[in-house]
Amino acid sequence: MDNKKIIVTGGAGYIGSHTCVELINAGFEPVIIDNFFNSEKFIVDRIEQITGFKPSVIEADCADLNTLSSVVEDLGGLAGIIHFAAYKAVGESTAKPLDYYYNNIASTTAMLKLMEIFNIHNFVFSSSCTVYGQPDVLPVTEESPVKKAESPYGRTKQVCEDVIADFKKANEDLRAVSLRYFNPIGAHPSALIGELPLGIPNNLVPFITQAAIGLRDHLTVFGDDYDTPDGTCIRDYIHVVDLAKAHVAAIKYLIDQEKGLYNIFNLGTGQGNSVLEVIKTFEKVVGQNLDYRIGPRRPGDVVQVYADVSKANEQLGWKTGLSLEDALRDAWRWENSLKEKK
Ligand code: UD1
Repeated sequence: MDNKKIIVTGGAGYIGSHTCVELINAGFEPVIIDNFFNSEKFIVDRIEQITGFKPSVIEADCADLNTLSSVVEDLGGLAGIIHFAAYKAVGESTAKPLDYYYNNIASTTAMLKLMEIFNIHNFVFSSSCTVYGQPDVLPVTEESPVKKAESPYGRTKQVCEDVIADFKKANEDLRAVSLRYFNPIGAHPSALIGELPLGIPNNLVPFITQAAIGLRDHLTVFGDDYDTPDGTCIRDYIHVVDLAKAHVAAIKYLIDQEKGLYNIFNLGTGQGNSVLEVIKTFEKVVGQNLDYRIGPRRPGDVVQVYADVSKANEQLGWKTGLSLEDALRDAWRWENSLKEKK
């Protein structure tokens, strides 16, 4: 490999840190850009503990193009940029739309400017299945229409995908992919890195593990009267380590392309699971009952969405290897490790 260095924005975050581990395992040298707004510095030490390599860290805001330009200049040749850093809470985005539009769109634009200024060719963008809204046909393929976004968060993902597409039209050299994540869950099997939700978790699995360990009184299932077999919503839950490995596959894929391109891939397992199935699987894996109660529907929730992942399987040469059980076991180990740390 000529250029081993690769910028990973949000590299101390949940998906970013797992991706740094897999990049290092594959022989790359991640350079983390993070402002630690929603991540912790000790995670970088944990990446070193797992891999034996400590990524260098640039503590900066990804929207701060001037600061980043001066730092990136000193890095030399780069294999590419993987851009995770973004705000991601759907509910909060409705209350603070400008924060979301500014942070998520300005940082993506700044990253693309860096690519232009420093002649960096390979760009991987963290997108989301939220761009599909409630798809008309399941499983959802990359050809499925992008629906009107339900939240400012979702709209930032749509806009950023369009920004990349426009930049590609104007820049023949750009090789870029948007990876549309379904529902990333779990943690590294070492229990050294995992998700660190700020405050009360919005997402299902961190809420389950916090409820099971006693940090939350009980889990509320948001609605059991949907048109699904057990009445609860269906999602495609993918182990974060499988997701991280897809980023390595994506970078290798981009490096192999001779000419510019922009491509989009779904990253999921291809399998849908209901909220109750996740709860039952968690109870089986950890051998403990969970206190859960059925509550009202959560506004904005789609009924069901799961991925057709054949495009990523075929073109990226990647497939998932871990199960829902593995993910829930690892999430539980991580939650327990946090308790021990306190
Ligand atoms: C959504 C987006 C996803 C985005 C993510 C960011 C969709 C389909 N997915 O994930 O793209 O990246 O937000 O946060 O738009 N649930 C409960 N009780 C809880 C928490 C969740 O019953 O306490 C249920 C939800 O109603 C949902 C499922 O669990 O059916 C998963 O919810 P969550 O983990 O929040 O993820 P999404 O909403 O699917």
